[in-house]
Amino acid sequence: MNRLIARVASAVLLFGLVGQAAQAADALNGKSLYLNGPVSGGATCASCHGPTPANNVNGILAAANQPSVISNAFAANLGGMGSLFNGKFSAAELADLAAFIGNPNVTAAPAASLAPTTLTFSGANIGQASAPLSATLTNSGNAALNIGTISIGGAAAGDFALGGGSCANGASIAAGANCTVQATFTPTAAGARAATLIITHNATGGSSTVSLNGTGNATPQATIGLSASSVDFGKLLTGIPSAVSSITVNNSGQAALNFSAISVSGASASIITRAGTCAVGTSVAAGSSCTVTVQAAPTSAGAIAASLTLASNASNGGGTVTVSLTGTAAAPAPALSATPSAVAFGSQTIGAAAATQTITLANTGNVALSIGSVGVTGSTAVKLSGSTCGTTLAVGASCAATVSFTPTTEGAVTAALAVASNAPALQVGITGTGTTQATAKPALSETGPIAFADTQVGSSAADHTTTLGNSGNAALKIATLTLGGTNPGDFVVGGTCAANVSVSSGATCTITTAFKPTAAGARSADLLLVTDSGAQLHLTLNGNGVAVVVTTPSLGISPQSFDFGSVVIGGTAPTRRFTLTNSGAAAVTLSGATFSGPFAAVADSTGCTAFPVTLQPGASCDLVVSYTPTNAGASNGSVAIQSGSTTWNIALSGQGAASTPNAAPSNHGGGGCSASQDVTDPTLVALLVLSLVVIGWRRRSRNGGAK
Ligand code: HEC
Repeated sequence: MNRLIARVASAVLLFGLVGQAAQAADALNGKSLYLNGPVSGGATCASCHGPTPANNVNGILAAANQPSVISNAFAANLGGMGSLFNGKFSAAELADLAAFIGNPNVTAAPAASLAPTTLTFSGANIGQASAPLSATLTNSGNAALNIGTISIGGAAAGDFALGGGSCANGASIAAGANCTVQATFTPTAAGARAATLIITHNATGGSSTVSLNGTGNATPQATIGLSASSVDFGKLLTGIPSAVSSITVNNSGQAALNFSAISVSGASASIITRAGTCAVGTSVAAGSSCTVTVQAAPTSAGAIAASLTLASNASNGGGTVTVSLTGTAAAPAPALSATPSAVAFGSQTIGAAAATQTITLANTGNVALSIGSVGVTGSTAVKLSGSTCGTTLAVGASCAATVSFTPTTEGAVTAALAVASNAPALQVGITGTGTTQATAKPALSETGPIAFADTQVGSSAADHTTTLGNSGNAALKIATLTLGGTNPGDFVVGGTCAANVSVSSGATCTITTAFKPTAAGARSADLLLVTDSGAQLHLTLNGNGVAVVVTTPSLGISPQSFDFGSVVIGGTAPTRRFTLTNSGAAAVTLSGATFSGPFAAVADSTGCTAFPVTLQPGASCDLVVSYTPTNAGASNGSVAIQSGSTTWNIALSGQGAASTPNAAPSNHGGGGCSASQDVTDPTLVALLVLSLVVIGWRRRSRNGGAK
């Protein structure tokens, strides 16, 4: 029974092949297979049958358009062909070979098709151009399609015009490629208008055409257009009106445009002031324009949302067009910050040269700062020795104030840098101690801030080196050297300066800082060095973390699964090529392929090289896989292809068949003819059912025709 089904299945399969050959066989591909042998490699037909089948060497013309003659000859191992080719050609390839044998003089030719065959324009006013419509010219042949000219002919040719589209006079369209033609409709008269778009070319027929249809609209209409469909006022402050935005409203129609209403609506309508030349009762002549201006004056913080609506007699958009009005408002909040927020000079010898430290003042608010005064209060031993701060400081800007310490008496000194502005009053505490002893005088080689180069998250920017000098008369010892501030974890400190390191008078040590962002965006930290005498030195570190672009590798696999069909145990193992294509934007490195089941990779000089395989974007290679069943019955397995943490799987299957002495030559399986004998294959069962249905239908229609 099983055998019988197998026979019927084979017959059906052959029937299927003939059907396919008549429809889709590609004689050019057959020519390539004839001259070059199977895709997986091996002998060529030409080697025994001569350079062309036309000479009928060894009787090959028997297979003209008859793939079954080839498969039967292989099955019978005629001339040893079975040993050479069994399992190496798919059913489609055998059909292609037969098509070539039937047409040995086949040459490549273009084939043109133009779709859609009709372009119908919606009604347009006389003299007014409609939006363009396009048609696609496709070359479904296998040689270049050369365009001669593209033109419009027919009764109302003057009402249609070519414009846009990628097809051009004299252009060449590669096999399988396409181009587009575009036409517009500008009726010169009322009623139905028709013409034909003609493309001449070198494919069969010499030209392709598209019918062009449209209707001319006799009554002139107004057409409204806007220069912008939205206005974003941006970030505003409450109490401060935005800039005035202007929108141009034009009438591209044939009749005067008349507004029935112009209004602003929505939650924020009350803070929008509308003006301009567009007005109800003022006609905009055909071809003319008017303007609407809008200005927002926010009174409270929050999002601004409103819309401007213009209702008119225009024929488009139902006569009503809208412009969305957006923005955000915040209350003005002047803010001033100081870095460092406190200054400690430590011990300083009375009468020695002044020690200095610099304080950076920054406008961290959303309005300009007007600075009233910058000065030192609390002690005459501390003076403001320099300032780059003027009377105003823009949003985000900063300036520097330098303070110096020259004690005249022994003991602790307390003072403050005081800044008066429209922001809350700012005080930076300053401490120091006057002594008659010799003191160290620590100073950094720079006041900062140190700006590191933009760095990818996880990477390190080049190190920066700062020197700590001691120009005093006594040695100093570093008490602590620490990172604080906003993102201390994003910076690394090294160098010879470290806690408990002593720096003698006139000596130096170095601080190296590195930027290693843990997140994207602006990152900053505050380096604080404290000496044993209480001096505090600050250095601001700034950097910008750049997000790492994660590209997920993308691999195209064809086919994504394969059934090798029935294969005799111990016979020649069939192979199958799987094309792996890098369909992503970055190179992909495939680290390896792991097989399960009786399937294995086969080294092939025309296939992928040994793993790891690197594929550039768009590149591909073939993974050649063999099937070597060891047990009778179904084999199921897979191959997993890895790249980093990504894995792609190809499902593999087949049927192991025990070899019997009387068995027919083993021409089953392999090379794409997946279903040659395997009745459990669902495709085959489907084919069987389909064929019986077709045969039944043919009989019935024949009988019907006879009556
Ligand atoms: C090793 C040499 C050799 C190669 C390679 C070869 N053939 Fe043949 N082929 C023969 C011989 C010999 C015969 C005649 C056998 C006979 O008449 O008994 C033959 C006969 C044929 C026939 C006639 C079968 C019939 O029933 O009369 C066809 C069709 C055919 N070959 C197709 C092909 C195709 C297609 C290829 C390439 C895929 C090919 N051959 C490659 C040697 C070869």
